Amino acid sequence: MIGLPRRNPPATTGTQQPNHPEGGEDAAARVGKPAVAAGARVVVRGLAKRYQLTPEVTITAADGIDLTVEPGQIIAVTGPSGSGKSTLLHLIGAIDRPDAGTITVDDTEVTTLTRGALARYRRGIGFVFQRYNLLPALTALDNVTAAVLPYPTDFDKKTRAAALLAQVGLAGRENSLPSRLSGGQQQRVAIARALIGRPRLILADEPTGNLDSHTGAEILALLLGLRDTEGVTIMIATHDPTIAAQADHTIHITDGQITPSHPAGATAIGTARR
Ligand SMILES: Nc1ncnc2c1ncn2[C@@H]1O[C@H](COP(=O)(O)OP(=O)(O)OP(=O)(O)O)[C@@H](O)[C@H]1O
Ligand SMILES: [Mg+2]
Repeated sequence: MIGLPRRNPPATTGTQQPNHPEGGEDAAARVGKPAVAAGARVVVRGLAKRYQLTPEVTITAADGIDLTVEPGQIIAVTGPSGSGKSTLLHLIGAIDRPDAGTITVDDTEVTTLTRGALARYRRGIGFVFQRYNLLPALTALDNVTAAVLPYPTDFDKKTRAAALLAQVGLAGRENSLPSRLSGGQQQRVAIARALIGRPRLILADEPTGNLDSHTGAEILALLLGLRDTEGVTIMIATHDPTIAAQADHTIHITDGQITPSHPAGATAIGTARR
């Protein structure tokens, strides 16, 4: 599915530059499609996160990040190991709390939410972890339904989980335990799990990091297809230049700051923080 037509509007804020300057159809074209979920708009301003390791040693994992992601965009988040890619996704996904700054997802200012509101917010996010994080004692189907088990839903959980497993190419493997699935298949289950709550935003932390290049390309194609069919906004932390090349925009992080990417990286076009 690599090479799908671009359907995204160009970025509006100038905090990133398009990987594909030719742009694409406007957002209205996507709205006309049978969208399951509309993508979220994410606005990050002045985001900071520090870890105090010892009284003397502080790690600055996010250092004044400004970022705007338009609905339905796919953003690649690149940068060296330890630069703050996971931290950024964790903060946006409300897995972790920032020390300063704001994160606005559609109309929700995430950093001010109370505990109950945070739980509701997280339900609108599909988080895909590098190491899949599947529950080993549960079947593929039960891993997917587990994500929404505590909540009332307007769909039948098992029916939707089975449909999602089929959508990610795992029809017939509903009853397989993770240990009976390949790495790529486990990551597909993890993507189905991320989708079951009809997220507006998918945060994928190195979703192909543990996969061979062929399987990684399949997983990426799956994510690209989701954006095109469902309009979901997707942020992918990655070291893989082929993922960055397929994204609508790439941001490059160094020492917790968005920086211009190296000029040699034709696929990784970034801009400095403002
Ligand atoms: N819970 C934590 N406690 C202390 N330091 C942390 C914690 N989480 C992250 N860090 C530090 O924050 C910095 C950024 O980490 P982060 O995981 O965001 O990097 P990354 O870009 O995702 O790296 P990688 O490519 O290796 O996944 C690193 O120096 C890391 O050691
Ligand atoms: Mg990381």
